[in-house]
Amino acid sequence: MEVFVRRLPKVELHLHIEGSLEPELMFEMAARNNITLPYQTVQEARDAYQFDDLQSFLDIYYQGANVLITERDFFDLTWAYLLRCKADNVIHTEIFFDPQTHTARGIAFDTVINGIYHALRQGEKELGITSKLIMCFLRHLSEEEAFETLAQAEPHLNRIVGVGLDSSEVGHPPEKFQRVFTKALSMGLKTVAHAGEEGPAENIWNSISLLNVSRIDHGVQCTQDPALVAELAKNRMPLTVCPLSNIKLRVFDSMENHNILKLLDQGLCVTVNSDDPAFFGGYMTDNFLALTRALNPSKKQLVMLTRNAIEASFISDEEALNLNSQLDEFWLHHGDDS
Ligand code: ADE
Ligand code: ZN
Repeated sequence: MEVFVRRLPKVELHLHIEGSLEPELMFEMAARNNITLPYQTVQEARDAYQFDDLQSFLDIYYQGANVLITERDFFDLTWAYLLRCKADNVIHTEIFFDPQTHTARGIAFDTVINGIYHALRQGEKELGITSKLIMCFLRHLSEEEAFETLAQAEPHLNRIVGVGLDSSEVGHPPEKFQRVFTKALSMGLKTVAHAGEEGPAENIWNSISLLNVSRIDHGVQCTQDPALVAELAKNRMPLTVCPLSNIKLRVFDSMENHNILKLLDQGLCVTVNSDDPAFFGGYMTDNFLALTRALNPSKKQLVMLTRNAIEASFISDEEALNLNSQLDEFWLHHGDDS
């Protein structure tokens, strides 16, 4: 089963590029940018990655991002992630970036997006990995700051497929961003939002009805409300689930108790994603392996998770046909009915 999981073609839809900053690269960037880190060694940084909840993670995550200064830094960060994608057989990825984490430190929006975008283009050319870019608003900041960020993105609309909503969910519900999401939609952008990670099922309902999202990031708290689960299944509203993240941030007490396969079996369009792999113990293959060891899925269920991600992605029908045929080819050679 492990070989099957490693070789399975994968599609990632929930990855914060700043959350893929490994401590080794963080130290390299700190040295070249003359920044002092609160850790002496890579090991010390890794040892500090112990979290009680989302907020305790976010504090460390935003601090790590302080080493990202130049366009080259954003390029190197993205390129390192793409190399991990290649090793994990990720064939398409839709990544988040948090411009406000950087513009608040005086880094130009253009520096951030140029570095990320050029790495993505090179990844398509040299590694054959296709990608899309989603700009997130930090929900702990104001509506006004989100509008300012959307204005900064205007010259780059050809490089951004949609907007998202991340950071501290509790206390910052989706309705706070209804107007800025309406504006983004009017500009031709898709919308997604983190909801039902730590927050209530109500945040999922409101992200759908008020923010018009095309998918929900996390969404695992939907089981608080059976009517919501039924609605998500009926409409095939995708959930970008992040198994290792949920364990590290104590959304579930163990992987054995994770609800991803139960939701899959109820007909929901659930997908597997890595969220912030440098902080949560692994990339796409690690997430698939962890859930495979704990929940013993069939090969059919594992393939369905990639099938769902293709369905939930923002690619054209033609590109989806191509990815699905890669998955069919894989199934032909490695599938059986177990
Ligand atoms: N930013 C980065 N990772 C996040 C997560 N899991 N939830 C909310 N905001 C985030
Ligand atoms: Zn996330």
